[in-house]
Amino acid sequence: MVNYQLLRNDFSANTEKFKEFYRYRKSVFYYCGIILIVVFLAVNFLSYDDETIDSQEQNYAEHPRNIVAEQESGQKLPFTTTPSPPLIPYKYEELPACDLSTDSPKPLHNAEAIANEFFKCASMILLRFAMNPQGMLFNWPYTIYVCDEEDLSSRIPLISFDNGQKQYWAVLPTCQEKTTLVTLGASENTKSEEDIKKLLKDLETFGTDPFHGKNNAYGKFNQVALSTDDHEISMVDSNDKFSDKNFVATVDQREFFNVTVGTYKIDMLWITPNAGNFEYEKYLNKDGEFEKMGVKVCQINIEITKNDADKWFKLINPLVQEKRFIFMRPMATEGGELIRTYLLNVADPECVRKYLQ
Ligand SMILES: *[C@@H]1O[C@H](CO)[C@@H](O)[C@H](O)[C@H]1NC(C)=O
Repeated sequence: MVNYQLLRNDFSANTEKFKEFYRYRKSVFYYCGIILIVVFLAVNFLSYDDETIDSQEQNYAEHPRNIVAEQESGQKLPFTTTPSPPLIPYKYEELPACDLSTDSPKPLHNAEAIANEFFKCASMILLRFAMNPQGMLFNWPYTIYVCDEEDLSSRIPLISFDNGQKQYWAVLPTCQEKTTLVTLGASENTKSEEDIKKLLKDLETFGTDPFHGKNNAYGKFNQVALSTDDHEISMVDSNDKFSDKNFVATVDQREFFNVTVGTYKIDMLWITPNAGNFEYEKYLNKDGEFEKMGVKVCQINIEITKNDADKWFKLINPLVQEKRFIFMRPMATEGGELIRTYLLNVADPECVRKYLQ
């Protein structure tokens, strides 16, 4: 009898006793639930608050100069030309003379740290394309640009020299010394060159262009394309429908750098597809032709076509391992015909002294 009663009370929701018990249990459950949620939210809110305050303080202590720039960096896209930063007043005349033989007592940037940071970022990205030159070139502007946003790289004061058709990038010298610009395949639009000339009083310029006889922006100008020998090569000028029948004059690449340019430091090297057959993949790497000649190159703006995937691959893979250059501002033109990238030497002591210290 007793057993029966107990069972009935337990399993029927209709008895008054059960309803009372059930209501009581339900409300306790609800109260406990609400208390738990409130505690959970309060704890979260407090720790979130702590975190943001902490990280703000940290950021502020570590990079006091860069807080605004980092907030704005989200909008950069590789597909379009990056808007030029506001031109900071740059007064070349007020800079001290360069002493490239010693490090600056107060370096502005830590080049070695930049190189390591970039290597970490880029080697991970490029691993995907370890066997795939086409893929590396095709994806170049859409992958490697994230390394521009890295902490130290984003603080490099890259200036855009935009001629309305394309952007050349440059870091300006921190001290006075002759600056050499070499353009392989100069264009008729020389606004970028003129703008740099206005800022740097001591600029020596060399230019080549196989399609035009004259270019007033350059101190020394040759109507040639670079080649691997001194034979003529044919080149197609997209603006000239008869050009496929034309041969252009060429100069051997080694002779051009050894004799025509003849300097041991090229501050800025600009390479366009009209350069000819310049084998940059043999010149720019460690133990490459430039190093054998004793020629150093500090900054490069390079423009390559879809057909250059293999050359590009041969240049980039060793370059990223060597930690000598970092790559920035990768871009593709609208139809993807051209890929542009800026390379900055972060290993050569003279380049580092002049541009990063
Ligand atoms: C040019 O070549 C000569 C002979 O090999 C060499 O002594 C000289 O250092 C080279 N100059 C440059 C700028 O590479």
